[in-house]
Amino acid sequence: MSRAVVYETFGGPEVLELREVEEPHAGPGQVRVRVTAAGLNPMDWLLASLPEVAGQFGVTLPSGFGYDFAGVVDELGPGASGFAVGDRVYGGAQSRAVADYVVVAVPPASSGPEVLYRTPDGIGDETAAALPVAGLTAAAALSAIGLGGGAGAGAGAGAGAGAGSGSGSGETVLIGGAAGGVGVFAVQLARLAGARVIGTASPGTFDFLRGLGAEPVAYGPGLADRVRALSPGGITAATDLFGTETAEAALALGVPSERISTIAAGPHPPGGVRPTGGYDADPAALERLTTAILTGELTVPIAATYPVEKIRDAVALQAGRHVHGKVVLTFTPA
Ligand SMILES: NC(=O)c1ccc[n+]([C@@H]2O[C@H](COP(=O)([O-])OP(=O)(O)OC[C@H]3O[C@@H](n4cnc5c(N)ncnc54)[C@H](OP(=O)(O)O)[C@@H]3O)[C@@H](O)[C@H]2O)c1
Repeated sequence: MSRAVVYETFGGPEVLELREVEEPHAGPGQVRVRVTAAGLNPMDWLLASLPEVAGQFGVTLPSGFGYDFAGVVDELGPGASGFAVGDRVYGGAQSRAVADYVVVAVPPASSGPEVLYRTPDGIGDETAAALPVAGLTAAAALSAIGLGGGAGAGAGAGAGAGAGSGSGSGETVLIGGAAGGVGVFAVQLARLAGARVIGTASPGTFDFLRGLGAEPVAYGPGLADRVRALSPGGITAATDLFGTETAEAALALGVPSERISTIAAGPHPPGGVRPTGGYDADPAALERLTTAILTGELTVPIAATYPVEKIRDAVALQAGRHVHGKVVLTFTPA
């Protein structure tokens, strides 16, 4: 039996159905992965709820759901070299990852809409399934403002470093939406790059952010003034992971637009700042992330896990936009 989450109309979590579907098989140059975990991202439910977004990504109805997955190779197609049945893998499969099986091309043919990586020993499937979109996007958001390559480089200011501890780089970075799925990676990567990090969140999230090594500041009107009070010497760079408020505050604080990036402000953010996304990431960024996880420099906070049967609850939680870290679905073979 093979199941997949599908939707036939656009809408909220209620349109998502876990259905029995025809079992897919690996074709030439492909492997089939038995999925054990799937990470959720806002884009998954934006595609399912907004026809105009779906159209931009070529998604038509009926559609499968999800992108990030982890699991085990259980079938090899003709000519699929480099992988063996039983290999642990993770990756992305646009609009079909939340399913018992996904079929993906092996590298180097895989790209963008479908990617496949080996899961390093020592990294669990739920963690691996949380990495591709959020980890690569965080890396790209920082790289766009000149803060890259810290993870795994032994910079020494990793997860759990005390909030307010010194900056080795002279950088003070403002991160908007710092506790979300992308934010938890961005905060830690910026700390690993030696930066002092100020992160926006609601007050109830402040302790969580401190635990990641950031100094929290409340989002909302007056943000620039609150950041100025925390850092009278100014900030040197910013990345806005939620909208435009953080980018606008950074501009107001005199940060040059080329040192401000956005990932959720559309193609034309204010003041000429840089839109970016996971598609811009250095492909080596994931390896740096997994290395940092294995050395204990980086943690992957998982806000909640749900069995795939509870897909609607999982999506409703994430669509509320107040999760801390990632939401992950788990699969028990039916
Ligand atoms: N361009 C790309 O390639 C790309 C890739 C991934 C994601 N994205 C986009 O980036 C955004 C962030 O993704 P994500 O996975 O990090 O989302 P997420 O996990 O849903 O973000 C949740 C976080 O947002 C915070 N938040 C809620 N309201 C806020 C506000 N008004 N201002 C600042 N922060 C607020 C929450 O903090 P509190 O709980 O403290 O309120 C929570 O920790 C989404 O819009 C997503 O679509 C873009």
